[in-house]
Amino acid sequence: MAGLYLHVPFCQQKCHYCDFFSAPPLGDQLTSWHQLLERNLHLIAQEYRPLLETVFFGGGTPSLLTPSQIATILSSCQKLFPVSSGAEISLEANPGTLTVTNLKGYLSAGINRLSIGVQSFDDETLDLLGRRHNAAEARQIFIQARSLGFTNISLDLIFALPGQSLAALDRELEQLLELSPEHVGIYGLSIEPGTHLAKLINKGQLRETTDEAYAEAYLHLHRRLTAEGYDHYEISNFARPGYRCRHNQGYWQRKPCLAAGAGAHGFNPTGYGQRNAIPNDLLRYQQKLDAGENPAELLEEFDQQLAMVETLYLGLRTSDGVDRTDFAQKFGSFPEVAFPAAFHSLGSKLHLEKNRYFFNPEEWLLYDHLISHFL
Ligand SMILES: C[S@@+](CC[C@H](N)C(=O)[O-])C[C@H]1O[C@@H](n2cnc3c(N)ncnc32)[C@H](O)[C@@H]1O
Ligand code: SF4
Repeated sequence: MAGLYLHVPFCQQKCHYCDFFSAPPLGDQLTSWHQLLERNLHLIAQEYRPLLETVFFGGGTPSLLTPSQIATILSSCQKLFPVSSGAEISLEANPGTLTVTNLKGYLSAGINRLSIGVQSFDDETLDLLGRRHNAAEARQIFIQARSLGFTNISLDLIFALPGQSLAALDRELEQLLELSPEHVGIYGLSIEPGTHLAKLINKGQLRETTDEAYAEAYLHLHRRLTAEGYDHYEISNFARPGYRCRHNQGYWQRKPCLAAGAGAHGFNPTGYGQRNAIPNDLLRYQQKLDAGENPAELLEEFDQQLAMVETLYLGLRTSDGVDRTDFAQKFGSFPEVAFPAAFHSLGSKLHLEKNRYFFNPEEWLLYDHLISHFL
């Protein structure tokens, strides 16, 4: 069982906070990217044909692809790989690119999960973030997607915005909850070097949120969303029962993931695991495919020690945490035996229940610091 991640490295314009690899598509670049992706999939299938449980169109802005492009990619997947009958097939979408027509087309092409980057329900904030849509448009597109038959929709919200009060965050949350999405992603604004927001901060025109305000907002979101029946199942992710993102769960559980499209990352569990990546370089991507070579390059080969660390690093991001017995079966020793010093330093911050180690959301706030004990 495996996932397939397809990276679409195009966006109409750069949002003011984002440093993901993407650029506006030039000329008929989307058409040629689509043709290259088809060749990429054929090359992968010559080497490895696992049963696909999930397919994830991520980006960038995959909703720049037309429904017929999505349909041909998915029909190639069906021809090249065995695909599980209940496979989760997700599309990341920017509301500014969605219309009733393309939503209908995506649904009939086989997309059964939409992840919509709403980011905020406040127009001034959307302007600050450099989004192309306003709040009313995002709300409208959600309602249309729902009435067309999308039954699994995730919404992304950015919090810890400069100057955002708890009351303002609450107003955002109320609007999100009114829509009742099955899944919610919450991302604390991170100021990335080189972005427009970083420039405003460097010029003193904007001030970054304090750690205290960030923590207060995060825990507020945790309390409100869990009170509404959402399960806080990963640092940034909440789901109604039965609606966790299966594709991302595969990533946190180190399950195999095939990768296609420049900028995509994949995972091959051979040995202790190999992480591979297709370079963020469209010209090199094309040259490799023209030469009939798989464009994926080895990013990291894991030995036992690195695989143990990554199992803890990814597993402890989730509420399921890490099962002691599974860990011992894979690596020959229980986590506390393999990492005695880390367990000693973490003390009561790391919990153990039903044979699983896990952190609570209060500890997730300090994740980078706490997990560094294992590194
Ligand atoms: C790669 S984007 C894909 C979604 C789609 N491109 C869109 O923006 O509508 C995934 C999510 O990452 C989050 N994100 C990206 N950069 C961020 C940043 N600097 N700080 C916080 N969240 C960020 C946004 O919430 C975004 O929806
Ligand atoms: S947030 Fe999404 S739409 Fe905006 S630049 Fe990043 S990937 Fe593109």
